[in-house]
Amino acid sequence: MDSQTVNRKDQYTKSTPKQHPSGDKRFKILDATMKRHQYQQDALIEVLHKAQELFGYLENDLLYYIAHNLKLPPSRVYGVATFYHLFSLAPKGVHSCVVCTGTACYVKGAANLLATVEKCAKIHAGETTPDGKLSLLTARCLGACGIAPAVVFDGTVCGHQTPELVTEKIEGWLKHGSD
Ligand code: FES
Repeated sequence: MDSQTVNRKDQYTKSTPKQHPSGDKRFKILDATMKRHQYQQDALIEVLHKAQELFGYLENDLLYYIAHNLKLPPSRVYGVATFYHLFSLAPKGVHSCVVCTGTACYVKGAANLLATVEKCAKIHAGETTPDGKLSLLTARCLGACGIAPAVVFDGTVCGHQTPELVTEKIEGWLKHGSD
C-alpha cells in the first residue's frame, strides 16, 4: 500500500465525513444508496455495484470511502472487491475514458459517443488498447445529467460531448499519449 493510500485512509479514519470532500456529485448518489441501505454492512456488494456503475471502476479512495461509511475495515472492502470478477479496481490503461450510458446521456447520444470511442480506439467497453494507452469503461449516471451527454476523461467529468470532441481527445491520447 503506497503512502498516498495510507494518507487517504487517515483522511477517513481521523475525521468522520458523511460526504466526500471532493464535492463530486457521484458521491452524493453513492451516499443516497448507502443511506437507503441504512449503512448496513450486509449491503456492501450492492454498494460496490452502485459505485462501479457510477465511477466505472473502484479506486482506493472510493473503497476507503465506502469502508468508512459502512464502518467496515478497509481490508474487508478491498477483499470483497478483489474477490468478485465483476468488479474492476482500476483501469489498466495510462488514460481512462468512462462514457456515461445513463438515461439522460443516452437520450442525448451516449450510444453514438461510445461507438465513436470504440471505433477510434478499436476496443470495446471494458477493454484496454493493446499498447496500454487507453481503457474504455461505461458508467450509469455520473450525477451530471444537466450537462449530458457526459464523458469522464482521466477522472475529469466533461459535459456536452460530441463525437468530434471525443474523437479529438482519444486520437490525441493514442497518437501522442498526452492530453
Ligand atoms: S445520465 Fe449521464 S450524467 Fe446522469
